[in-house]
Amino acid sequence: MSEKKHKDGTKALHTGDNRQVLEAQKSSQAGSNRMGLQPEIANRVRQISFAEDKKVRKKRSMSRSISASSADSFSSASYTSSDEEDDVSPREKLQTNSKNFSDFCIRNIKHADFGRREIEIAEQEMPALMDLRKRAQGDKPLNGARIVGCTHISAQSAVLIETLSALGAKVRWCCCNIYSTQNEVAAALSEAGYSIFAWKGQEEEDFWWCIEKCITADGWHPNMILDDGGDLTHSIIKKYQTIFRGMKGIVEESVTGVHRLYQLAKTGKLSIPAMNVNDSVTKQKFDNLYSCRESVLDGLKRTTDIMFGGKQVVICGYGEVGKGCCSALKGLGAVSYVTEIDPICALQACMDGIRVVRLHEVVKTADIFITCSGNKNVITRESLDKMKNGAIVCNMGHSNTEIDVTSLKTNDLTWEKVRSQVDHVIWPDGKRIVLLAEGRLLNLSCSTVPSFVLSITHCTQALALIELFNAPEGRYKQDVYLLPKKMDEYVASLHLATFDAHLTELTDDQAKYLGLNKSGPFKPNYYRY
Ligand SMILES: NC(=O)c1ccc[n+]([C@@H]2O[C@H](COP(=O)([O-])OP(=O)(O)OC[C@H]3O[C@@H](n4cnc5c(N)ncnc54)[C@H](O)[C@@H]3O)[C@@H](O)[C@H]2O)c1
Repeated sequence: MSEKKHKDGTKALHTGDNRQVLEAQKSSQAGSNRMGLQPEIANRVRQISFAEDKKVRKKRSMSRSISASSADSFSSASYTSSDEEDDVSPREKLQTNSKNFSDFCIRNIKHADFGRREIEIAEQEMPALMDLRKRAQGDKPLNGARIVGCTHISAQSAVLIETLSALGAKVRWCCCNIYSTQNEVAAALSEAGYSIFAWKGQEEEDFWWCIEKCITADGWHPNMILDDGGDLTHSIIKKYQTIFRGMKGIVEESVTGVHRLYQLAKTGKLSIPAMNVNDSVTKQKFDNLYSCRESVLDGLKRTTDIMFGGKQVVICGYGEVGKGCCSALKGLGAVSYVTEIDPICALQACMDGIRVVRLHEVVKTADIFITCSGNKNVITRESLDKMKNGAIVCNMGHSNTEIDVTSLKTNDLTWEKVRSQVDHVIWPDGKRIVLLAEGRLLNLSCSTVPSFVLSITHCTQALALIELFNAPEGRYKQDVYLLPKKMDEYVASLHLATFDAHLTELTDDQAKYLGLNKSGPFKPNYYRY
């Protein structure tokens, strides 16, 4: 999943024109009560604005462009450390774990116990990855693998890192996002002896410094890359060609990173094989359909406390993400409408009992608008002008241009930050639109991704690494590959045990009739699940 490069990672109010920002702030302070708020609530609104503003000023220099994979996200849990502690850069502190190991750079090793509990909670919801760990740790299929990793550092990715290590790999790891690291998890991994270079709220130069620390170290010669966004791969290609040419392969997780890899392959600059795990079927289905089905409600609830029963919701785009959103909303009694450009998806919506409309037919009456089309300018200023007071507008698609947020940064409109990730955009007549996450991915910005989904993703990554590392010479050339279908099926089968699901076995006769091997693959590559 990737989002248009987002600079500050903070608030759109502050990303626009400065004069406008100041005006918006002034009018928000003076006018918190124009909407008839109780004085103490108006005060709270102001406090939130000021607190956010302070934070923004502090972080303003962090203008690293971040890839999709690196959209800022809510952590499952966070451990609040003191402000003074946060003011000292981890690069200026020498830390050692309880065994005197110091080859890591994180926020605070003292929080390791809390992080370990987080990892244990994640393990409970990642049974297939744990199962893979158990099944393969005897064989150690990654013995000799030296993996340099750049992903989100979360409790779930810690389960992956520890699995790779149990399978025989040596690892060094940094984060692919300057905001998403769970500091306590980084501490737990460092306490366990892993070389982790990551903390939440890095400066841009810290980000690249951490990548460097993972590529080069005394006696360390990485031979595999696990990347999410392509920044690590890019650094190695740019600065360490000798290391790069000697590697066995790259496993890439994100749309952005995969896109970069295909470009490299096209221009003949990809000198080793790469595995695109983003497009494996299990990952796609879980990421797009099931994960969005679970997280769209979470994101909306956390930001707006809205009740869905009876609310009119417009979903723009009825692909995998749109289907997931609609199915969740239906379950809570919302009245859904779909807009579509494709007659097949439109017909699917009809068959699912959803009215297919053009946006202008419902724009004045609907309560919530959710874009998930992968397209741009699906909701324009013209539509936003027509929406009713209090309408909630958000995006579940990859790019933050699905809603034309830029068109809302005009002098006639006032922006008021009412919560983290929640802006009120106020029209001259007092009408307010509730804009969530400034039009960036709602679920990544305002909720968490279920551990079970990440279990699928991480199993896929682990299997891709095993496959590339163990493949006989010549099986993979200097190109980008999809995970073999059989492995995709294996990832799914590992997860079936959680549900005590029992697969039916083909008889010899049936296998012959269908022209299949009894152990799979069960579908051709073009099959649409
Ligand atoms: N939020 C998340 O966690 C998450 C997860 C996976 C994917 N995504 C992103 O969500 C977006 C949708 O993904 P998908 O898998 O559903 O894609 P998809 O291609 O299956 O569905 C998108 C649908 O939008 C329709 N569409 C395009 N332009 C439209 C327009 N102007 N008006 C109405 N409908 C329009 C298309 O016909 C298509 O049916 C992508 O950008 C994807 O990267 C988000």
